[in-house]
Amino acid sequence: MKKIFILNGPNLNLLGLRQPEIYGRETLADVESQCAEIGRPLGLEIRLLQSNWEGQIVDWIHEARNVAAGIIINPAALTHTSVAVLDALNAFEGPVFEVHISNVHKRESFRHHSYVSLRADGVIAGFGIEGYGLALRRMGTLVNG
Ligand code: DQA
Repeated sequence: MKKIFILNGPNLNLLGLRQPEIYGRETLADVESQCAEIGRPLGLEIRLLQSNWEGQIVDWIHEARNVAAGIIINPAALTHTSVAVLDALNAFEGPVFEVHISNVHKRESFRHHSYVSLRADGVIAGFGIEGYGLALRRMGTLVNG
């Protein structure tokens, strides 16, 4: 089984509770179980992690360098602010997909710019939590290639 890190940034621990009209009622535990199910037949073992701390996300990206075949990341607000997360991703050699639950392009203009998109091999926005599973399927195609 190849390992895929699914990293989640600030406030995504509140998924399902926070602004459900934007982010839906499903939780990060639902994302984890859906992705585990999608990944299994593709030979992908997922490790889903969430932190409200930028440095922790950077540390997990460094850890991924040694153990993960790919990274799926929803950097949340760090998308729009973090050169540190971009730099860490630039030090990772496998595929990187950026996922947003909401369609950030339909929202405030400050959400239209993403530092992470400068590194991401693909971006999914506005597909709800299904976006994670779609990114994982594509990851299967790339890493099993
Ligand atoms: C988000 C969009 C970001 O703009 C926001 O800060 C988030 C979640 C999304 O999944 O739609 O926290 O990344």
